[in-house]
Amino acid sequence: MSSAPAVRAVASSLAAPALELTGLRKHYPGQPEVRAVDGVDLRVESGEMFGLLGPNGAGKSTTVGMCTTRIRPTGGTACVTGLDVVADAARVKRRIGVVTQTNTLDRSLTLEENLRFHGRYFGWSARDSRARAAELLERFRLADRAGAFPDQISGGMAQRLQVARAIAHRPEVLFLDEPTAGLDPQSRIALWDLVRELRLDGLTVVLTTHYMEEADELCDRVAVIDHGRVLVCDAPETLKEVHGAGATVELTLDEPATDELLQRLGRLEDVTSVDVHDDRVRVMGGDHDGLLVRVVAAAGDAGVRDASLQGSTLEAVFINLTGRDLRE
Ligand SMILES: Nc1ncnc2c1ncn2[C@@H]1O[C@H](COP(=O)(O)OP(=O)(O)O)[C@@H](O)[C@H]1O
Ligand SMILES: [Mg+2]
Repeated sequence: MSSAPAVRAVASSLAAPALELTGLRKHYPGQPEVRAVDGVDLRVESGEMFGLLGPNGAGKSTTVGMCTTRIRPTGGTACVTGLDVVADAARVKRRIGVVTQTNTLDRSLTLEENLRFHGRYFGWSARDSRARAAELLERFRLADRAGAFPDQISGGMAQRLQVARAIAHRPEVLFLDEPTAGLDPQSRIALWDLVRELRLDGLTVVLTTHYMEEADELCDRVAVIDHGRVLVCDAPETLKEVHGAGATVELTLDEPATDELLQRLGRLEDVTSVDVHDDRVRVMGGDHDGLLVRVVAAAGDAGVRDASLQGSTLEAVFINLTGRDLRE
């Protein structure tokens, strides 16, 4: 009899989404004009790899901060595996792993100790903590540097260690805030592989990024966020199909583009938009076929140094939705 409520609680927490945000808001004190997070509704299912994609200042870290109990919402609710992040913060903390945007490794501890003490902090026995640390060092290819200190390893290794530590206590939902910002391309790809492998543990992953390729490569679904609001949320393929461009041609020119050139490009058949970034001109069109050839021919006398053709990208989605560039 007495176990019935407990059974029900377990059943409801199994059925609950990994993350559910309802009208979530954050206005920082003293800055009423900045709505860091301005009414976000999102639902992430268990086992999903979910991305928050948006430019700097969009509200990604603030959203993650609220989901991970570090920042107190000023409105709405956030539930992790059915538990409210404010009312049930202590239980939420045991179910989540977090890698924040800044390196939070303990610099006075070795890599092995960083992992082992994390286990101890979560109440694991010395023996279990040691075994888990060894297992993770092996799995994250850090075993040969186990005795090193965080200052003695590369940025890519430090980031791997942060992820290893974040999952050490076997959380259900892992939050990664800009996990590859500042990493070289090789380390970035290595980390992507690692994140993909985490799925094998059945983890739900919520990551933020301002790299469209990262969101596109890794995520089952992506919420595009700007000024604290979700603009669209869907599978990358669907977003590109519905909100993107058919194709984008990027030209690199010897000289700055003239208004006359931009107008000429804009008048080409099938071209939907033309914009300029430094020495590059980006031309979006509804269709792949022949777009590159037509754009290069039309730009002929402007000194085209390089030209490339891409299918639709999440960048194009963002530009179409906001009129701005993700990189701005
Ligand atoms: N501690 C803070 N105090 C005041 N304003 C903040 C604070 N943290 C972030 N902001 C502001 O909130 C907005 C969203 O920031 P943030 O969540 O860090 O965005 P992102 O992670 O997408 O770059 C920005 O305008 C930022 O300047
Ligand atoms: Mg951020």
